[in-house]
Amino acid sequence: MKIKSIKAREILDSRGNPTVETTVVLDDGSKAENSVPSGASLGKYEAVELRDNDPKRYKGMGVLTAVSNVNEIIAPKLLGMDANEQIKIDKLLIELDGTVNKSKLGANAILSVSQAIVEAAAVGQKIPTYKYIASLYGSKLTEKMPIPTFNLINGGKHGAGNLEFQEFHIVPSASKTYRESLRIAEEIYQTLENVLIKHGAVHSIGDEGGYAPDLFSNADALELLMEAIKGANYRYNFDVFLGLDVAASSFYKNEKYQIKDRASPMQTDDLVNFYKELNQQYPLYSLEDGFDEDDWDGWIKITQALPSTMIIGDDLLATNKHRVEEAIKKKACNAILVKPNQIGTISETIYVVMKAREANWKVIVSHRSGETNDDFIADFAVGINADFTKFGAPARGERVAKYNRLLAIEKELAAEDKR
Ligand code: PGA
Ligand code: ZN
Repeated sequence: MKIKSIKAREILDSRGNPTVETTVVLDDGSKAENSVPSGASLGKYEAVELRDNDPKRYKGMGVLTAVSNVNEIIAPKLLGMDANEQIKIDKLLIELDGTVNKSKLGANAILSVSQAIVEAAAVGQKIPTYKYIASLYGSKLTEKMPIPTFNLINGGKHGAGNLEFQEFHIVPSASKTYRESLRIAEEIYQTLENVLIKHGAVHSIGDEGGYAPDLFSNADALELLMEAIKGANYRYNFDVFLGLDVAASSFYKNEKYQIKDRASPMQTDDLVNFYKELNQQYPLYSLEDGFDEDDWDGWIKITQALPSTMIIGDDLLATNKHRVEEAIKKKACNAILVKPNQIGTISETIYVVMKAREANWKVIVSHRSGETNDDFIADFAVGINADFTKFGAPARGERVAKYNRLLAIEKELAAEDKR
């Protein structure tokens, strides 16, 4: 099946910022429509999300240049190509851009095309997207779904400016089915609202649908999660575990970390000790971006200090093969957060996952804080056999779009396994 048309438009994401939506049609009539997300706590090693920077439109956040790059530059080169040749297509996209960080055409423009072609090819083959991705990745699908991690409290750049840590997670036990995990998370999420009200804390919502309370310390947020877990009649460290995405680059200044849990700014070694103490009080199942993206020393030390915690690189790795290779060599983490829009094509994302697997790292497939109702990322997570997903709180339309898609996939895979 050949690519017949590619057309992009400017739409809005969940924060009300413009983003790119692209439709791809193949010569047999197969059609896919697809949009890309956008981060707020951007890592400096991420591919460039092209913005118009025209202050007269959307405070400079418009994406008309990216849209026109798809329609005027990318589309004419791709028309007539076989939609099943994803690697060839992505290579051409990379060449057309020609920069190391996709700053010419924009990773938002490029990914929207790369992703929409994956979906259109799946439609053309009359198989679900996750199955088509499994064929690209070379994985075997089973009934086992990725474990969902849920972001119930939003701080940092997603919150109300009160907590420094960006995300406070609950992770249901691997023994639960996906459907059970979703229910557990939802019940704890609802209970958490009552817990916040009881403590007189603000219970408004942050960018990823979690609560954005005003608390005295970051550790207090973990305490409130424990209370909500108990209140919903689940057992902490048995049914449900705790995790953090600290997003430490966002509060690293003059080579120090300042958080409200400590009176004075911390050096790298102080922060290592802080996490060790925190882990004694609240055993951490996962710790993402515990240190700045250039503070390799902190990363290496924490990976050694907390051997039973998943040490996840997000800003550190930026879904970039060079960063991943360096981190493997330095033993700087043991898990990767995978975000296709950090690198800009699906083939490169898949390659990075393969590299991480070679190092025996855990793989977590993630949304962004600015999302649309697009559910491609759910299919992607299942297709590459991710160990975990990270799609925000179990609430708000753009988040539950992904969770509901996983429910449908779980059902399909279970029915197939029984055959
Ligand atoms: P972002 O946050 O999408 O705003 O970058 C998500 C994360 O840090 O994991
Ligand atoms: Zn992160």
